[in-house]
Amino acid sequence: MKNYNIAVIPGDGIGPEVIREGLKVLDAVSQKYSFKITATPKPFGGAHYLKTGEVLSNESLNELRKYDAIYLGGVGHPDVKPGILERGILLKLRFDLELYVNLRPVKLYDNVNTPLKDKKPEDIDYVVFRENTGGLYTGVGEFKNKGTKDETANQHMLYSYKQVERCVRYAFEYLQKKHKDNPWRGLTDEQKKKGCVGKLTLCGKTNVLTYVFDLWERVFNQVAKEFPSILTDYVHVDAICIYMIEDPKRFDGIVTENMFGDIITDLAATTQGGMGVAPSGNINPNGVSMFEPVHGTAPAFAGKNVINPVAAILTASMMLNHLGETKAAKDVEEAAKAVIKKMKSMLVGQMGYTTTEIGDMAAANIK
Ligand code: IPM
Ligand code: MN
Repeated sequence: MKNYNIAVIPGDGIGPEVIREGLKVLDAVSQKYSFKITATPKPFGGAHYLKTGEVLSNESLNELRKYDAIYLGGVGHPDVKPGILERGILLKLRFDLELYVNLRPVKLYDNVNTPLKDKKPEDIDYVVFRENTGGLYTGVGEFKNKGTKDETANQHMLYSYKQVERCVRYAFEYLQKKHKDNPWRGLTDEQKKKGCVGKLTLCGKTNVLTYVFDLWERVFNQVAKEFPSILTDYVHVDAICIYMIEDPKRFDGIVTENMFGDIITDLAATTQGGMGVAPSGNINPNGVSMFEPVHGTAPAFAGKNVINPVAAILTASMMLNHLGETKAAKDVEEAAKAVIKKMKSMLVGQMGYTTTEIGDMAAANIK
């Protein structure tokens, strides 16, 4: 029987509760398809740091490389100074394991309330490919004359050709594969006749960030030549915030740098019904990848059985897809969709069910 070794980092706050429900569904689907998920819990997070002083040591990180995937709930703790766990765990995993694409599907499911007036599920269905290892997140910068009125602070948006290239290439490849037998719905008949199957939009700021996005644009256009079946488009980051609200239908895939990606995916998650339904994958196509719901730890709701585990369940579906269990992945997504149809709302405390009940229902939907 095929076995997948998964390192599970439930983390802090509501992390353990949503991961528990995700594992329930994984357990059900693995029985159906006769594979095994061996989940090995890992303690990393705020509570572990306060207890032991370890954030995430290099030994621990190297040990994580041995797994088939990492499934993470959320890390963050009210008693730990902001930055320590973010940089020490989340960003360390992203950088050191070279999880160079942050894959964030944006999909409005049936029966989910979007704040966008008159928008339907067929209007909101795209993927954001957020570069996940570079840019402002690199942390290169400095203070000068700190503490005086002559102080300056700078932080660099740093990108190498290779960093941009591997991310952009992943996005093109992803769309090509996704639409192989099923072209994107937004294409005209003429475009389809020409063999187009999808569309990738580069989101940047070429009019102001004339170094970084000059590089991004050149690399994007260069790589695009290898993917004639994918249409290309360019939109400035500020304008994309307008289109994501007024005309989300125009998007199939959006590729962008790290900080822009961080910001626009929160906006995108809001359009798809909020953090309760937003999954993500931090992908290294040649190594171990890490899967986490976009929401954080929401400590105020921890232990109350009121948080929405749908994002964690959809995240489990992304993980299965990545492991090559595509049928199981589809089943988990369908199981989540069926639960979503019954829920009153995606919002905390208004779901009509407890966290546990939603996980139970999703697991029972796998037949
Ligand atoms: C995210 C989060 C992180 C980020 C924080 C917690 C460091 O906002 O995953 O989007 O900025 O990437
Ligand atoms: Mn974010």
